[in-house]
Amino acid sequence: MHNKLINKEIKMAVVGLGYVGLPLALEFAKHLSVIGYDIKERNLEMLRNRIDPSGELGSQSFEDRDIIYTSNPEDLKQANFFIVAVPTPIDKYNKPDLHPLLSATEVVAKAIHPGDYIIYESTVYPGCTTEECVPILERLSGLKYIDEFKVGYSPERINPGDSEHSLQNTIKIVSSCDDDSLENIAAIYEMVVTAGVHRAPDIRVAEAA
Ligand SMILES: NC(=O)c1ccc[n+]([C@@H]2O[C@H](COP(=O)([O-])OP(=O)(O)OC[C@H]3O[C@@H](n4cnc5c(N)ncnc54)[C@H](O)[C@@H]3O)[C@@H](O)[C@H]2O)c1
Repeated sequence: MHNKLINKEIKMAVVGLGYVGLPLALEFAKHLSVIGYDIKERNLEMLRNRIDPSGELGSQSFEDRDIIYTSNPEDLKQANFFIVAVPTPIDKYNKPDLHPLLSATEVVAKAIHPGDYIIYESTVYPGCTTEECVPILERLSGLKYIDEFKVGYSPERINPGDSEHSLQNTIKIVSSCDDDSLENIAAIYEMVVTAGVHRAPDIRVAEAA
């Protein structure tokens, strides 16, 4: 997976291009071929013009990147490694609103092929990824979890407005559903996180982190 991404034989997709997803997509796009997917067409138009809708990144962050911006779910079928960074707000009762996460998972489920990887970065409670997202991925793809696709979780650690702690200089926690895929995921994140990665023992531990 790692070598194929580096050689651009396969592509990465980042789903949700906000505070978390956009810097990640642009950093990976220095090395890999990236599909940036979001549902907000207005924001995508800004990104195509090298403008970050959140105002965090300058236009130089968009230079020399191998990335396309799309809201067409069909484009996701060209990817084999997916990172999901959509919002997980809470409702007025302080309950997590999983609608964006589950809807993004449905779109990804319809795009994946045998051997693909899906990594979640959206903040969730321990157990959410395997209990809520994996069943949708299995049902809509017709593929079997672990045997036919891998799922990982990597919590986002950046703070908006904090210029000292960046994606590159903050150790990133990664986790996966089995040991082999964990090594692949770690190697892929190590490309962009110069501070290195910490391998969590399982997905629940990384979600709790
Ligand atoms: N911003 C942070 O500092 C931070 C830190 C830690 C964790 N997180 C977590 O990371 C996740 C993303 O947060 P964010 O701050 O980047 O949010 P954001 O609102 O800045 O960006 C989310 C993006 O996802 C897009 N989106 C929404 N639904 C979608 C869907 N169904 N398919 C595709 N795209 C969709 C939105 O249009 C938006 O561009 C959340 O779970 C958040 O809790 C954020």
